[in-house]
Amino acid sequence: MTQELPQDLPDWAGLAATFGTRASRAESHLARVRGDASPVPGQPQAWVSPRNREEVRELVLWARRHRVPLVARGAGTSLDGESVAWKGGVAVDFSGMDRVLEIRPADQIARVEPGVVNASLQAILGPLGLFFPPNPGSWMTSTVGGNVGTNASGFRSFRYGPTRRWVTGLEGVLGSGEMFETGTLSRKRSAGPDPIPLLVGSEGTLALFTEITVRLAPIPPRRFGVLVDLPGNVTPGTVARAFQGRGDLGLSAVEWVDRSVARVLATETGWSLEGAHGALLLEVEASPETEGPLWDALGRELAGMGIPGSPRRIEDADHFWKARGRAGELLDREMGPRIREDVGVPLSQWDQLLERLEEVARRHGIPWIAYAHLGEGNLHPNFRIDPASPEAVAVRGEVWAAARDLGGTVSAEHGMGALKGAHFEEEHGRTVAAMLRSLKRDCDPDGILNPGKLYGPVAGPP
Ligand code: LAC
Ligand code: ZN
Repeated sequence: MTQELPQDLPDWAGLAATFGTRASRAESHLARVRGDASPVPGQPQAWVSPRNREEVRELVLWARRHRVPLVARGAGTSLDGESVAWKGGVAVDFSGMDRVLEIRPADQIARVEPGVVNASLQAILGPLGLFFPPNPGSWMTSTVGGNVGTNASGFRSFRYGPTRRWVTGLEGVLGSGEMFETGTLSRKRSAGPDPIPLLVGSEGTLALFTEITVRLAPIPPRRFGVLVDLPGNVTPGTVARAFQGRGDLGLSAVEWVDRSVARVLATETGWSLEGAHGALLLEVEASPETEGPLWDALGRELAGMGIPGSPRRIEDADHFWKARGRAGELLDREMGPRIREDVGVPLSQWDQLLERLEEVARRHGIPWIAYAHLGEGNLHPNFRIDPASPEAVAVRGEVWAAARDLGGTVSAEHGMGALKGAHFEEEHGRTVAAMLRSLKRDCDPDGILNPGKLYGPVAGPP
């Protein structure tokens, strides 16, 4: 799905005339939208910040006329170059479309523009007793549009699932320039194949979204974090399997950090984290009546797994997630340049995955650390190696092979971006990959939307 696109930006004058100061080729603007949290080199030729759906449509029609790539962008927190303009073109910065348009408390629904920041939306919903469940590690800065683009999930998806489960309506502009609106406010609908889950996770390759309607959940009356040191005789896999399907424990998050990440978090927060196998970070949702019994049941469950000592309670669960959400940034300081991965495996294969990755690290002679959305089999292994080096390409390949061999995925919650397109066919199967490519051609006949991403086989940059 590669297209020959022009090297130079054509018709800058047309763009400038339409967008005024909200279009720029100045380095100060380009620098802000050049990269993400991956090593994929971006080369945006212009920055445009549209303000409404008509402007988004104007932009798409302009790009179609001149065959210029458009790359939608939220906060740029993705790990694999999802929002990087690696083939030139325009970085479409949605930060200017960040309004919460409507909240319907009675229906537990909100309609928002894609640029709204997750934390800002939660701050508005909180006083209404509601929240938007998908909360990726980057929730303090990342946007709802970014969540939808990558089907992001995060800490609490153990209970609430990924973004796909919470989107009930989408409005946007296809790569053809046609506007669309799909979805209803009904909680149930069985009217044919559902395009919404198909558009969620499309990484800006089919459409640019201009409005997103999401379902909300009531804030539980009580919610607290729990810290548990994991001793050397209890593996993360044992814990993941023990908590599988245990809705009766009130758990909404089952997270794990290895010993090295625990040490980094301990330095930052003052928590004492001493486990030989790192630490569990759990969240329990309860009511005043169930709080005591759930706490006791959790203690018994942990003791039954062979975990000694008492779990520690962190009353402010958001404080807990803010600290954990900063893990990437803290590790930037601690480890420097590194590979950051996002693989998923079935829970029965957790410990095998960790063993396979230990072998990868040993073979290459490089240190590695890991943290995980443990309860969902989603591991973020980090290897201390220059991510742009040829050896890093080999290491990543071995990490992906380990996950795939164990029945898992190369992308559990960040999408595929520029790095993982070669796995598109393998992940979906040949027939379905062909079907999705033909959908791409229908939606984006000139291949202007985020070219080179997703549809493979594309050899991505390191
Ligand atoms: C996190 C990001 C990397 O879990 O997904 O912090
Ligand atoms: Zn994560």
